[in-house]
Amino acid sequence: MSVLEPDLQTTAGPDAPSHDCPLCPRLVAFRTDNQAEHPDWFNAPVPTFGTRDASLLIVGLAPGLRGANRTGRPFTGDYAGDLLYATLLDYGFATGHYAQRPDDGLTLIDCAITNAVRCVPPQNKPLPEEIANCRRFLTATIAAMPNLRAIVALGRIAHDSLVRAAGEKLSAWPFAHGRAHRLSKFSARKVELFDSYHCSRYNTNTGVLTVEMFQALFARVQEFLRTSHNS
Ligand code: URA
Repeated sequence: MSVLEPDLQTTAGPDAPSHDCPLCPRLVAFRTDNQAEHPDWFNAPVPTFGTRDASLLIVGLAPGLRGANRTGRPFTGDYAGDLLYATLLDYGFATGHYAQRPDDGLTLIDCAITNAVRCVPPQNKPLPEEIANCRRFLTATIAAMPNLRAIVALGRIAHDSLVRAAGEKLSAWPFAHGRAHRLSKFSARKVELFDSYHCSRYNTNTGVLTVEMFQALFARVQEFLRTSHNS
């Protein structure tokens, strides 16, 4: 399948690493260990969830070991997914019922979800070179979305990788929760980048990110998409 497939859950191609992607030796070794330990888990680069005609792309950090790496769908089975999918359902970016499993029938509406790093990293911490290696897939995913108008970066790592993918300087576009950046270099299109703290258990337990803050961010994104036009 190619980037022209309507479903972004492609097999290998510019926007999707192969099931046995060899680019990051440390992540390959971790994947091999997990395949031996949990042969029933997905244990491969987790594909983008959603379709290429969406206006909104949400970019997380990387699959959680027992969440997306187990189930094969971004944020699915992860603690972070409970808040993310509940919020997407509340703001009209998803329909159905989220039940922490890829066959729960949940459908995204005008929205797609991917990760800055497609493979699960040890301790949930990708190395800078792994983030850089995987950026080619993020860039290609963005290029494959002709109607894209907004991106939500969940956390600083996603934000930084997106700014680099746009060919911009990090110093000119610093991460801050709730900040919106008008990046003009994504495939020569105007795309609004909205920053959010990551919806991780750590951030919600410590009050760094509240449900209200997360909802407010998606309310703004919803309003932006309602009032903006492709240019
Ligand atoms: N699961 C994902 O797929 N991405 C994250 O960033 C966190 C959990």
